[in-house]
Amino acid sequence: MERKEFIKKFAYGGSILLTAPAILSACSSSDDDFVPNDPDEPNTDVTIDLTSSTYEDLGTIGGYAYSGNIMIFRTGENTYLALSKVCTHEGCTVAYNHDNGNILCPCHSSRFTTSGAVINGPAPTSLKKYNVQKDGDILTIS
Ligand code: FES
Repeated sequence: MERKEFIKKFAYGGSILLTAPAILSACSSSDDDFVPNDPDEPNTDVTIDLTSSTYEDLGTIGGYAYSGNIMIFRTGENTYLALSKVCTHEGCTVAYNHDNGNILCPCHSSRFTTSGAVINGPAPTSLKKYNVQKDGDILTIS
């Protein structure tokens, strides 16, 4: 390889190396930064102290509360239902809408019943349900 040819190839290769990070970052989008919630949370039991003011709404039948990625509904005198707040479509956080009694996903408008069933998609499946055990004033969600 002649000196002139070497310099030409070196300059060309160097310019690619210098521009590669800019090209790669231009290809990324804000969607790449999206980290969906983990639908399998909680991985360990969650305990709820019903005497805590945080959960005072669970003192009445029909009341609800949140704990991390879990929604808890009081469905009867001694019965509770715990659902994941992680939408089964793409993992956004759903929320209970007290006015219409549905659970709504803000990302693509999936709606769920308060038992977690899909009313309308694009969510493909029901919200994950957890087991709830009541012992005195303590709920254990697993
Ligand atoms: S992530 Fe909930 S509807 Fe798309």
